[in-house]
Amino acid sequence: MEKITKYLIVSLGLFWLSCSSDNEEIKTIVDDDISVVEVQASFEYTISEEDPYAILLENTTESDSDFSAVWDFGKGGEKVADKAGFEEVRYTETGEYTITLEATNVAGTSTATKTIKVDQRYGVCSTNGCEELPQNGLKEETDTFAVGVITQSYRISEGGNHTQVLKKEFNSLTAEYEMKMNIMYPSPNNYDFSAGDAIVDFAVANDMYVHGHALIWHEASPDWVENFTGSDAEFEKMVEDYITTTMTRYKGKVRSWDVVNEAVDESAGNPLRNSIFRQRMGGDYVKKCFQFARNADPDAILFYNDFNIAASSGKRTAIFDLVDGLGGLVDGLGAQMHISIDYPSTEDIQAVVDATVSRGLKLHFSELDIRTNLENDKNLSSLPTEKAARQKAKFKEVVNIYNAVPSEIKFGVTVWGLRDNESWLVDFFGVPEWPLLFDENYNKKQAYDGFVGGLQ
Ligand code: G3I
Repeated sequence: MEKITKYLIVSLGLFWLSCSSDNEEIKTIVDDDISVVEVQASFEYTISEEDPYAILLENTTESDSDFSAVWDFGKGGEKVADKAGFEEVRYTETGEYTITLEATNVAGTSTATKTIKVDQRYGVCSTNGCEELPQNGLKEETDTFAVGVITQSYRISEGGNHTQVLKKEFNSLTAEYEMKMNIMYPSPNNYDFSAGDAIVDFAVANDMYVHGHALIWHEASPDWVENFTGSDAEFEKMVEDYITTTMTRYKGKVRSWDVVNEAVDESAGNPLRNSIFRQRMGGDYVKKCFQFARNADPDAILFYNDFNIAASSGKRTAIFDLVDGLGGLVDGLGAQMHISIDYPSTEDIQAVVDATVSRGLKLHFSELDIRTNLENDKNLSSLPTEKAARQKAKFKEVVNIYNAVPSEIKFGVTVWGLRDNESWLVDFFGVPEWPLLFDENYNKKQAYDGFVGGLQ
């Protein structure tokens, strides 16, 4: 008998039963040939492009009959009724999760399951492993500005992981402390360039830029300069000789210099710090030092470098007033960027960029590190997952802001340390801290992915 005929018979039968006066129980007549097939649950997922710790779930169940479906995201807790469209689910804790979709129709219930793994560095992975991130070094992720890091001469001579990572990831080096006056000019008429030479020679041999840091800094002037016994004129002549000798030595190898570092005070009104240089050379000592530098190496890119330029609008104003007074002697601004996961704001960082761009100066984010342990918790033994995610986001934000500046303004972003345990912040604040891109085992952190993400 034709299927349609049978439908009609059954339908009429059901109609008749529904009209029967004796209200007997309605029996569902299901003809052997008109059976409802049990629904077969199925779903797919994709990893969110914006957030590698989130997945988009799609219910791909197909059925000739009405059915309902509920999710179990594998995180414990209540099942969730399926909604139209995609379900976005975020996993904040590393581990393995089994996701289940349960579909039910008149003929019964079926389930579909998939297992995912959440990795601290990569985010969500299928259980057959995480797709390795591109093995480019940071320096290959951008060709519009230098990606730099600091080093020390003993780490260069030791080689090993330190120099391997330097060569793989970076194309610019800054001496953390060994190209400062107290190291290079330890006593009158006595220069010691040995450490600086080791760093510069390694960089040149590996086709890396060198950023000279820092010719004049009140916190790195040798005792004999602080207690200089000659006249003011002799002091100024000594400073000129030091700048000239140093820059001449590294001419053609050191692309750029922080000529003066941190000359603006933190106190109210942000005056010039009353350093020995100001006391002995006068209020225009900064301009004099830039003139000495310009004379010594006309091809060098000359920076004024300071901190809290984003965090303090008053200091920012004072710094740009100082820079404006240097006229054509200054080529760029070094914003150190010792910041944290919570500050400065995007707007304040952008304000530094805007003030630099409006002057046509090059911009160097010169000492980037991002603090996480703002509570100064002495008991922390590792970087909390939630803090790691916020640090990753902040690195991405900062690099994204930098990456958006006009190409003629771009110079470089230098991170102030390679491994977390080597950071100056650990001693400075005296509490555990993980402010950089690599952990103590030279493993890339989520922060590294944030830096890469800012370059996309
Ligand atoms: O390596 C020597 C060690 O051999 C010696 O026994 C010991 C005692 O004298 O000194 C060690 O060198 C120290 C060096 O850090 C390495 O740890 C120097 O004394 C010490 O002065 C030096 O401090 C550096 C500081 O600037 C002063 O130069 C920090 O590493 C460095 O991170 C810090 O960086 C500054 C920037 O230049 C300017 N912006 C702020 C930033 C943080 O303070």
